[in-house]
Amino acid sequence: MFRFDPYSPVMDADPFPFYKTLRDEYPCFWSEEAGMWVYSRYADIVTALNDWETYSSAKGNLVDELPNRAGSTLGTTDPPRHDRLRALIQKAVTKRALDHIIEPARQSARKHLDALAGEKSFDFVNAFSSKVTVDLLFYLFDMPAEGQQTVRDKAVLMVQTDPKTRKKAPEHIAAYDWMVDYAAELIETRKKNPGQDLLSNFIAAEIDGEKLHDREVQMTITTLIMAGIESLSGFMGVMGLNLADHGDARRALVADPALIPDAMEESLRYNTSAQRFRRCLTKDQEVHGQQMKAGDFVMLAYGSGNRDERQFENPDVYDIARKPRGHLGFGGGVHACLGTAIARLACKTAFEEFLTRYPEFERVEQQLPWVPSSNFRSPMRLELAVG
Ligand code: HEM
Repeated sequence: MFRFDPYSPVMDADPFPFYKTLRDEYPCFWSEEAGMWVYSRYADIVTALNDWETYSSAKGNLVDELPNRAGSTLGTTDPPRHDRLRALIQKAVTKRALDHIIEPARQSARKHLDALAGEKSFDFVNAFSSKVTVDLLFYLFDMPAEGQQTVRDKAVLMVQTDPKTRKKAPEHIAAYDWMVDYAAELIETRKKNPGQDLLSNFIAAEIDGEKLHDREVQMTITTLIMAGIESLSGFMGVMGLNLADHGDARRALVADPALIPDAMEESLRYNTSAQRFRRCLTKDQEVHGQQMKAGDFVMLAYGSGNRDERQFENPDVYDIARKPRGHLGFGGGVHACLGTAIARLACKTAFEEFLTRYPEFERVEQQLPWVPSSNFRSPMRLELAVG
């Protein structure tokens, strides 16, 4: 009997054959292990994303939701509250408003590459991608540098699940609680000493003449730290892997770095780090002959929609010339990723610097350790040989 277990290490290593079976044979599938329905075809996922009234995020969007998170963050509220909160943040994260991050991002990449000089091999994730990502988030929020390693470690832990119990383990929940407290402390300090950073802007911001409550600022900051650090660093790990595995693509980027954004979009389609999110049905639905009830959860498998042959030609081929319009790497609908401009700028800068320093590299381990997560898929470590 076919099973779809998003907690399984086998799924972390290679979810794509499972997705194909889902799309072809069980397009609306009840996963016993996840306790929810799974949509795997591109068209069904897009339909759900464009209908937030039926597919609500208010009960949480993580396959394994963290306690006390649903209903209090951007990704876990429905319109109209969601839209007002989003409009407020959106202004601060447009491409134009972010020009000032390019130079610090470049300096950060150079600093961490300098530290690797002379090494014959190193771990791309822990020595480079996570470091430049954390630097960037700390710069955006003007956070005190001494907390960097701890914040990064907690951000990685809070997206994890225990594959044995198929639940968040106490250390995952503790990491999230730590981050919420950290955000609260940050807000208190910043209130006393406001600046020009994103956090100071949120504290001063108003919706309909009302300031955001401390709890809302706190949850927004926690989400941005989690999304900013883990999604971005995880994604860079995946893109680094793609460039290690596809020498022709890498050489094309070295010859013409202007192609890096195209390679990024194709990586977001081919094997994005944000593989699966969930919604909750507000009414009964019948999809592909399956009767679903109001209150049932539905997993939207973005990673599968991105490989749907009904939408993308030769979907299992990594082709940086593809320009995959409408890929689901950043989700879609009202909850489409808010950090796209940050992510695009950060990746472009980091890979420009990395490929200038290391035009040739290959991966050392064929079997990679993957971050155990029912939502995300990214290598825990990516050892690259550069010598
Ligand atoms: C390449 C890196 C990234 C990827 C692959 C990614 C992916 C995603 C995806 C798939 C969603 C939709 C979640 C859902 O459907 O429920 C999302 C939402 C979100 N992302 Fe990202 N993300 C990335 C980077 C970032 C960054 C750098 C930030 C901010 C610093 C960020 C902030 C957010 C926020 C706030 C939401 C919730 C938006 C809403 O519900 O209105 N993301 N992201």
